[in-house]
Amino acid sequence: MSIGSRITGVGSYVPPKVLTNFDIEEMMETSDEWIQQRTGIKQRRWVEENVSTSDLAVEASKKAIENAGLTKDDIDMIIFATLSPDHDFPGTGCFLQAKLEMPAISVLDIRQQCSGFLYGLSIADNFIKAGTHKNILLVGAEIHSKGLDKTPEGRNVAVLFGDGAGAVVVSRTEVNSPTDSHIINHFLYADGAHAKELWLPAPGNAFGAERINKAMLDEKLQYPQMNGRNVFIHATKCMAKVLGEALQRSGTDINDVDIFLFHQANLRINQKVAEILQIPEEKVFNTIQDFANTTAATIPIGMDEAIKAGKLKPGMLVASAAFGSGFTWASALWRQ
Ligand code: UT7
Repeated sequence: MSIGSRITGVGSYVPPKVLTNFDIEEMMETSDEWIQQRTGIKQRRWVEENVSTSDLAVEASKKAIENAGLTKDDIDMIIFATLSPDHDFPGTGCFLQAKLEMPAISVLDIRQQCSGFLYGLSIADNFIKAGTHKNILLVGAEIHSKGLDKTPEGRNVAVLFGDGAGAVVVSRTEVNSPTDSHIINHFLYADGAHAKELWLPAPGNAFGAERINKAMLDEKLQYPQMNGRNVFIHATKCMAKVLGEALQRSGTDINDVDIFLFHQANLRINQKVAEILQIPEEKVFNTIQDFANTTAATIPIGMDEAIKAGKLKPGMLVASAAFGSGFTWASALWRQ
């Protein structure tokens, strides 16, 4: 017998407002055909003006805690992954904690962008194995819509992103057999040499005292900048490699995996990864068609949607991989 962790609850929330590719066509020179062909995206959710990232997280967290059969008082840590926080500081996890009216516990915000959820899962697993925590709420939540360049110049990025939140509860468990529900392994990587291939430059302390000025606004440095082709190439290679590592290090045959939950940046990236590893397409569960890229939220939203669709059930072997800004990339293997 060993002490490990397992996912005991899952929840997600997306704002009600749907923006189809045809709605985006009204804002900038693009087309449903281009977006679908290059990315697979058909629609995304965008928040109304007065909604914050922690508001989305509240809804997803409540569902995950309830789904775990727990109450907010059973949670002893929050890990919050986002690149679109409510404010510069404190971290959005503290705002979530206050909104959920939780007692004093440890709260940790992490920044690993599209890999944020898997980094968070690894941190949760390690805290639980260290014996200091029992039930950790791990949240990925993003509001991209408020920070996109919605003019024609921003079309290469703006069409790709949506708003949403996903949450899981990671709980202490006894592992007696490999088929028991538990997190099997996780592998985390980053290579900051590529930090400026996908980034949000300003405002920032790397600039002058004012952090942002008129010239920088005119240059549109307040919007995400991306070298899409290079990100695409690295994403396919790194996701396939890190997923291969998870399987090989655990002695798992790829055919024994029941479902693959990949980060949702581009349907073509996920198809390419499946092709490299010879994974049958029907085993890869994608949600990008409906929600676009919600960064740290894509994997927990995918888990929740897969459960609702009857494609993710207790006892299944799940493999996950993600890649994003940093560059950061990661994988995880678990028994649901
Ligand atoms: O979460 C992790 C972060 N993100 C990613 O993983 C994204 C990775 N990259 C990608 O998914 C792809 O690179 C994109 C979908 C972003 C772009 O696809 P692409 O095939 O690499 O297109 P491209 O950037 O090379 O652009 C091709 C053409 C260009 O026109 P010209 O120069 O060939 O005349 C662009 O101006 O498509 C044009 N274009 C668009 N056209 C219509 C770029 N964006 C759009 C658009 N609508 N939204």
